[in-house]
Amino acid sequence: MTNPVGPGNRPGSVSEPVLVPGPAALARLSAPPAGVPAADALAATVDPPARMGATPGPFREALISTDAIRHNIASIVTRVSPARVMAVVKANGYGHDPIIAARAALEGGASALGVADVTEALALRKAGVTVPVLAWLHDPDTDFVSALAANIEVAVSSRAQLGAVVEAAAALSRVAAIHLKVDTGLSRNGVAFANLPALCEAVLAAHSAGRVVLKGIMSHLANTSSDEDAAQREIFVRAVELVRATGLNPGLRHLAASSAVFTTPAAWFDMVRVGIAGYGVSPFAATVTPAELGLHPAMTLRGRVIAVHRLPAGVGVSYNHTWRPDRETTVALIPFGYADGLPRQASNRGEVWLAGGRRPVVGRIAMDQCVVDVGNAPVAAGDEVVLFGDPSTGVPSAEDWAVAAGTIGYDIVTRIGPRVPRRALGVT
Ligand SMILES: Cc1ncc(COP(=O)(O)O)c(C=O)c1O
Repeated sequence: MTNPVGPGNRPGSVSEPVLVPGPAALARLSAPPAGVPAADALAATVDPPARMGATPGPFREALISTDAIRHNIASIVTRVSPARVMAVVKANGYGHDPIIAARAALEGGASALGVADVTEALALRKAGVTVPVLAWLHDPDTDFVSALAANIEVAVSSRAQLGAVVEAAAALSRVAAIHLKVDTGLSRNGVAFANLPALCEAVLAAHSAGRVVLKGIMSHLANTSSDEDAAQREIFVRAVELVRATGLNPGLRHLAASSAVFTTPAAWFDMVRVGIAGYGVSPFAATVTPAELGLHPAMTLRGRVIAVHRLPAGVGVSYNHTWRPDRETTVALIPFGYADGLPRQASNRGEVWLAGGRRPVVGRIAMDQCVVDVGNAPVAAGDEVVLFGDPSTGVPSAEDWAVAAGTIGYDIVTRIGPRVPRRALGVT
């Protein structure tokens, strides 16, 4: 069929005859294909009014309540006192932005910050954070010179690591502040108990040479059962004794993370390292809610509806057509996909808050977008949608998404992608 209006083929500009469809052809062209309702039957819900003059909401956004982080840390500071609180802001501040999280946590009473690696620690320094910062995960080429030059404390898990730290300290003519990291049963990072005596001797030698000062000794619990955590605690106590027997002052003893803050006072020692609870997400998967722990969720993930469609029963939605409505319904297109951190595993399971209620995600979550079934609720492009936030307001929680995806709240908040701007909200 001839395309009557195309590039180089504009009416009046070419010699070809211009084909103008007559009324019958127009009616045929505008009629929906079989099975699709006529446009005027859908107009009320499909075509959003132009929102001229309205303040546009965010396309995608993670709103970070600094009040919530401050509250959570302050309540933990009170709970564990006189033990101190190190706020853990690794992994992009558990997805909340490390600088926003660090500032709010320090205002809440945290006295130190913890991160996994030196690069994360340097980013805090670059942002002007001056409190003690500890980094505990290093590879053989970690840049300890930059770390020590920026007054970053480093955890040491082996004699090789200690050697690299001592070398960096010597190059800078400085004293490195270190923490001994002991594996008490997680079988991950940390010196094995059997190798601790030799590492202690090496620390003592480096201390005597004026190259290191031992600021602390740390380990991490597996949270497997109270008995197994107690067994790890026993090994930790023996490790502290061994350090003392070597002639070293162990400094701050720190073992507990969020879970033990709520379950195991015997693990608090001199400092606790708090990650997830500071962000108001439960460390106990779906079994205990943040509200039951007195925590306020800090992140609200929200955006705007991109488009709205009225669909007939039976039509396939999103890749592989894993969902088809069993009745005529309205669906809304949401600009969040797995590239933004929405777990694809939550396809046909997750829920969002839209048009005054919780609405199911239907069909496969795609890379950039997903589809929500709103039934007959009035929804228009541009409407606000909340993917998760504080469930006391009715919206789904990060824990709800964790259940939908078969994972944990930690995974939900930390996976929010770089395309989602973080915006701090609250008194600073
Ligand atoms: C060594 C260490 N300490 C503390 C934490 C904080 O744990 P949580 O987020 O459960 O408080 C982590 C997190 O993985 C960690 O690796």
